[in-house]
This record gives sequence, C-alpha cells and structure tokens, in this order.
Amino acid sequence: MYNSKIIGLGKYVPDNVVTNDDLSKIMDTNDAWITERTGIKERRWVKEGSGDTTATMGVKAAKMAIERAGISKDDIDFIVFATLSPDMYFPGPGVQVQHALGIKTVGALDVRNQCSGFIYALSVADNFIKTGMYKNILVIGSELHSHGLDKTTRGRGVSVIFGDGAGAAILTREENNKKGILSTHLHSQGEHAEELVLKAPGMGTRWVNDILADNNEDDESYFPYMNGQFVFKNAVVRFSEVIMEGLMANGLQKEAIDMLIPHQANLRIAQFIQNKFGLTNDQVFNNIQKYGNTTAASIPLALTEAWEEGKINTGDTVVLAAFGSGFTWGSAIIKW
Ligand code: ACO
Repeated sequence: MYNSKIIGLGKYVPDNVVTNDDLSKIMDTNDAWITERTGIKERRWVKEGSGDTTATMGVKAAKMAIERAGISKDDIDFIVFATLSPDMYFPGPGVQVQHALGIKTVGALDVRNQCSGFIYALSVADNFIKTGMYKNILVIGSELHSHGLDKTTRGRGVSVIFGDGAGAAILTREENNKKGILSTHLHSQGEHAEELVLKAPGMGTRWVNDILADNNEDDESYFPYMNGQFVFKNAVVRFSEVIMEGLMANGLQKEAIDMLIPHQANLRIAQFIQNKFGLTNDQVFNNIQKYGNTTAASIPLALTEAWEEGKINTGDTVVLAAFGSGFTWGSAIIKW
C-alpha cells in the first residue's frame, strides 16, 4: 500500500480581466454589492475568438504541472479531468488532453462533480496510486463558465460570481505512508440537486430540439440556477463537517492545520470557516478576489498560487475542502 503525493502544480487563466465595474455596464449591478456579498473584485472571462476552451486551458495548466514535476508526458499513466463546462456534450475533455499532450493511450476519466470536482478527481487519482495500479496521474480542473452565463440583470445573482480558468496537479507514488495525501472524504445529498443546477439541455428534461421548438426568449432553463442563500447555509455546515471528518480520520486537531485551501465559492464562506476553526489569515488561502468562483478549477488554482507564493512548505498539514452543486462536498488531508 502506497500513498500519493503532489509533485507538480500548474495553472492557466485567460488574459481578459472583467471587473465589477465592467459588469455594471452590462447589467444592473455594482462593485459594492458584489464585493460586500462575495469578496470578488474581478474575474477572467475568455474572449471570443481567443481559442481558449475548457480543454485547452486544462492542457496549458497540465503542461506547467508536468514541467514543474520534472517528469515527461510519457511518464503519465492516467488522466482525470474535472469540469462542469466541457467543450462537447461528449466525449469529455480528458481524451482531448490525452491527444493534445501526445500522451500514450492511457485511460482518461471525466469527473462531473461541479465545485467538488477537483476533490473527487484527486480522491480517484489518490486511490488508484494507493492500490498500486498507477504511478503518475495527471489531475485537472478547468472551467469555461462565461459562455454559458446569463449576462443580463435577470442572471446577475449567478453570473457575477463565476470565472474561467484551469489548474492541474501531478500525483505520484509515495512510499512513506505518513506523507502525501493521507485521506480524502466524499459526500453527496441529491435531494438538493435542483438548488444549484443547469437543467437544459438534458436528455431527461429538455433537449435542444425542445428548446428550439419552444422558441421562448424568456426560457431560463439553459442558464445555471442557484438558490444562493440555501446553498450558503448548507455550505458553511458541510465545509466544517468534512474538514473535521478529515482531521479526525487522521487523529489530528484543528490546531494541526497549517494551510486551509477552501473551494473559492464566496469569500464570506471562507471567512466563516476560518473563524470557526480559529485560523489566522496566513493559514487560509483565498484568490476569489481575482478570479471569482472557477468551480472545479478553483482549488488547483488556489493550491498552485499558494505554493508559488511559498505558503506551503514540506511537512505542512494542508487541508482542501469543497462544497457545491449536487449537493456534493469533500475534503483532502495532505502532509506536504
Ligand atoms: N447585483 C446587485 N444586486 C443583486 C445581484 C447583483 N449581482 N444579485 C442579486 N441581487 C439582488 C437580488 O435581486 C436581491 O434583491 P431584493 O432584495 O430586492 O430581492 C438582493 O440583491 C439580495 O439577493 P440574494 O440572492 O438574497 O443575496 P445574498 O445575500 O444571498 O447573496 C450570493 C447572493 C452571493 C449568491 C450568496 O447567496 C452566495 O454566495 N451563495 C453561495 C454560493 C455558493 O457557495 N455556491 C456554491 C458553489 S457553486 C457550484 O457548485 C457550481
């Protein structure tokens, strides 16, 4: 039985910066509302014609992670790609990464767990390595939200929050089972599936021909819907639970946390968790101010930047935690 550890991290965000003031020119919103409620000041939105897609952004982040890991693409045994915004309905972007990077015909798995996507993807990769099945796994979280948002006043409750970007990690085998990813913890509660949802097009609900046949300009079914306050209330409870679950599984107290990287859903959620666990500003990493909520990309983007800024060091206990649509939530406890 092995552990897995992260040996390379990478990121990519599109150049196009969209500030809160930019948004106030296209919908009825303002910097004060967005900053106060979410902490977000700006986000990146892919510019039409730039060529960036969920898959290409994932590839760019992956290249950086592979280089930093000091391995070759030929060393990669498996790919796991988390996203809610794939380039195509099917196949998912994992195979696009395999092709674009010229990786041999290894398996490519697509994970659809929204904001918890990266934790789920990490858990799969970790367990494939723990069993000895694979040695090096490329894990990616990438999202292109901006093409699918309702950028009118009608959609402002959702569209101001989300941003585009990608992050990636290389996991490898670790022989010392006191190092690397110690454990991961995954949960779901499908009774709340429709509280944060993109319903159409869906084979079981409304497919494209239904939308076209209705030709209804008030149709909101193909835009994301979020019951914001309900999501917020559940998020703060589940974040706390799943962090405690991870700590307890490893015989750790909350004082053991050196760095908490919460999914960047809302700065207020992160601050609530920080207070609850008695952590200082240096013990929690946030970059939602610059990127908004990038869903499956948010944890690898934040982890990469925390590492780049020297905030994660060998021996640190790093906790990752996420909550989102599904509802799904999860945590990972890592000894760096
Ligand atoms: N600009 C200005 N006013 C706005 C905007 C906006 N962008 N959006 C909504 N409003 C208005 C509303 O219309 C409402 O007006 P009213 O009182 O006249 O009806 C008022 O502001 C308050 O709206 P609420 O939705 O109640 O605002 P709330 O304080 O709940 O904040 C928010 C909304 C930021 C979305 C918050 O609920 C939140 O962060 N929820 C959690 C989000 C989250 O964690 N998502 C999970 C991850 S996402 C994933 O998994 C894909």
